[in-house]
Amino acid sequence: TTHRVGYFVGSLSADSINRTLSKALIRLAPQNLEFTEIPIKDLPLYNHDYDPDYPAEGRALKEAISSVDAVLFVTPEYNRSIPGALKNAIDWASRPWGDNSFAHKPSAVIGTSPGSIGTAVAQQSLRSVLSFCDSPQMNAPEGYIQFKPGLFTDTGEVTDESTAQFLRDFMQEFQAFIIRVRTVLPALPA
Ligand code: FNR
Repeated sequence: TTHRVGYFVGSLSADSINRTLSKALIRLAPQNLEFTEIPIKDLPLYNHDYDPDYPAEGRALKEAISSVDAVLFVTPEYNRSIPGALKNAIDWASRPWGDNSFAHKPSAVIGTSPGSIGTAVAQQSLRSVLSFCDSPQMNAPEGYIQFKPGLFTDTGEVTDESTAQFLRDFMQEFQAFIIRVRTVLPALPA
């Protein structure tokens, strides 16, 4: 069976290394995972005054999440947490109250940074947000990718075979995780 994965890139930068990592992950993923980016850059800053009448950007975000089987977060670390733009998108998707788009939606988290801990602290912070949002998360493997110039080509080819194998395994495990969650919770809407 094919599963649809919606992916979030936590960076708005035009030359984001996390966007390049997302391209690498898609290249190396099992054939029967299908990917669509869930864009976050045009969302206004959320506040709950929007709840009674969500604007088109907020509705599109929620529809994009409900149309996929799982979500993948590929994010930089900003000041030991996630970028505000990504947190804003999660806040939008988690509301209006009682209509949390992440409930029971399987997720995985990965990211890259030039620093030696490779976004580990941001991922921990994101995991606690996703826990509160009731998203079943892949616990292992974890993906802390230290970025070095030349590790990826612009189109997401991985130049180092051990990193490529690691990312291939990560996506294979994610596929297995999606299947497990869907088996345990079969009554969930797709
Ligand atoms: C950073 N960077 C960074 N790196 C890190 O490993 N831990 C951190 O806490 C931070 N904090 C941070 C804050 C802000 C505001 C910026 C702009 C950058 C560096 C960061 O890893 C680097 O800029 C990456 O290139 C960001 O990823 P994208 O945007 O290229 O995908």
